[in-house]
Amino acid sequence: MNYNHNHTPVLVNYLIDNFQLNNSSVVIDGTMGFAGHAKSILNLYPNINYYGFDKDTFAIESAIKECEAFDHVTIFNQPFSTMFKTIAEYPIKDPTHILLDLGVSSYQIDSSQRGFSFQKDEPLDMRMDKSQELTAEGVINQYSKDALRLLLVEEGNVRQPDRLVENILKIRDNTPISTTFQLIDIIKKSIFVRSRSQLIAEVTKVFQAIRVAVNDEMGELNSFLENVLQLKGVVVAIITFQPNEDRKVKQFVKQHKLEAITKKPLQSTYHERKKNPREKTAKLRIFKV
Ligand SMILES: C[S@@+](CC[C@H](N)C(=O)[O-])C[C@H]1O[C@@H](n2cnc3c(N)ncnc32)[C@H](O)[C@@H]1O
Repeated sequence: MNYNHNHTPVLVNYLIDNFQLNNSSVVIDGTMGFAGHAKSILNLYPNINYYGFDKDTFAIESAIKECEAFDHVTIFNQPFSTMFKTIAEYPIKDPTHILLDLGVSSYQIDSSQRGFSFQKDEPLDMRMDKSQELTAEGVINQYSKDALRLLLVEEGNVRQPDRLVENILKIRDNTPISTTFQLIDIIKKSIFVRSRSQLIAEVTKVFQAIRVAVNDEMGELNSFLENVLQLKGVVVAIITFQPNEDRKVKQFVKQHKLEAITKKPLQSTYHERKKNPREKTAKLRIFKV
């Protein structure tokens, strides 16, 4: 298998400068991906115990290769919501740091042919974990009218959901909506925009909402936050790409009166974003449980 990928990790220096790591840290990386953050950390602290989780088997295989040079890396092909069970049963002894870099990798968007990108005509799949049943096609063709509307508003902040939902229902009554370009065509006919950039913004929001539903992204984050309170003293770093997720993390820290190591979310500068466009919406919050 070819393990090439083009994923550049986001906010690496901000993470390293604020994560409070040392040579005896025990790190859990809930979203190992292509081990971009992992390698940045391991290059500085090569002897620490590092545990990685990812849902995507391709990412897992690639991460194993990337981390070959390090002796104390253990990788699990599991959702990060299961890390607490693994901490207890594996067991992972005395974790000190947890990193979540939420969302999808550049590889998944650009090369996985799983319909994450609206730039290519691909099957509406969007699963990070290819063994799960629910796909984007399932969401589009099987969700009820109300469920679709709620999803588009809550997870995508889509401006004109009603016509879009009506058109989806009308079309899927005749023929299933099964490709990214079919969906884009419906979006174009349903949402009024003044420019191409507005169209791209709306398409992005619709795709994001569907991806969040397919991969139960909010459910995973909620489950993580509920459970992480058990791990007193652990330093948690969370990188989000959507306002909903950042708001959730911010409220969680406030509600439980946790120590915020970053008073405000850390974000890249204009020039940094030019080099790595994925940093455009990335926000990093670090707190201590
Ligand atoms: C933004 S990428 C992480 C990239 C990684 N930090 C790096 O530098 O290479 C997100 C990764 O998290 C994985 N992922 C997303 N949600 C997950 C979940 N709930 N459990 C496990 N892995 C998840 C995706 O499959 C993807 O590989």
